[in-house]
Amino acid sequence: MNVPNHIAIILDGNGRWAKKRGMPRGYGHVKGCENLETICEVAKDLGVKYLTVYAFSTENWKRSKEEVDGLMRLFRSYLKKCLKIAKKNDMCVRVIGDYSAFDADIRESIEKLQEFSKDFKTLHFQIALNYGSRDEILRAVNRLLRDEKDGKITGKVTEEMFSSYLDTAGLPDPDLMIRTSGELRLSNYLLWQMAYTEFYFTPVPWPDFDREELIRAIEKYNERDRRYGGVKEGEACSKQD
Ligand code: FPP
Repeated sequence: MNVPNHIAIILDGNGRWAKKRGMPRGYGHVKGCENLETICEVAKDLGVKYLTVYAFSTENWKRSKEEVDGLMRLFRSYLKKCLKIAKKNDMCVRVIGDYSAFDADIRESIEKLQEFSKDFKTLHFQIALNYGSRDEILRAVNRLLRDEKDGKITGKVTEEMFSSYLDTAGLPDPDLMIRTSGELRLSNYLLWQMAYTEFYFTPVPWPDFDREELIRAIEKYNERDRRYGGVKEGEACSKQD
């Protein structure tokens, strides 16, 4: 099995999962958070090098105060617990998104976790928090303009240079994007980075997306005819024209 180097996941369906069980939405998020721990371990065991998950979008602030507060509580406890998880999985953790919007203690936990895990190498785990791709692109453009004004950059902006201004600077683009729980949308996730990514949509809600489901997604990915700019993978040198 050819395991994708970088998998991006939209963690969707926690709320519906909980509702179906007669439980509050927050319970679904707690279960979703537990599942995140499981999937990090599974991804590492399968040999995935980069895993990026969409945990809180720029739009998610519009949810009820009760739900947002519950998610903040969950982030607080998870970010602390993640120090141990990072060590156990030899996992380098990085937050993408504008986390300056979070309370000071959450920001500190993020920075502590990033610093603590920065030299771990087996799995690179990115958590998108207060993330939106359009917001990320605009922040990048504004920083680029500032650097140009300060004379730090000159000449034409290349794709490579632009990528280095994004939150994902230095990371390879995702090979496979998985969205759980049946919605067939990108929801403002990694728009620049996923220009050539394969998409896999499943009706399975995030809390039920287990090892078997991840393997199923990777198997489907393996059935795809991967083409980059019209040239099939592995054929680039054998093509006559
Ligand atoms: C989408 O489900 C999920 C979220 C908005 C939050 C994702 C959060 C977690 C998996 C838990 C915490 C993560 C970390 C990093 C600690 P939904 O609420 O949109 O579900 P629905 O579509 O069924 O309503």
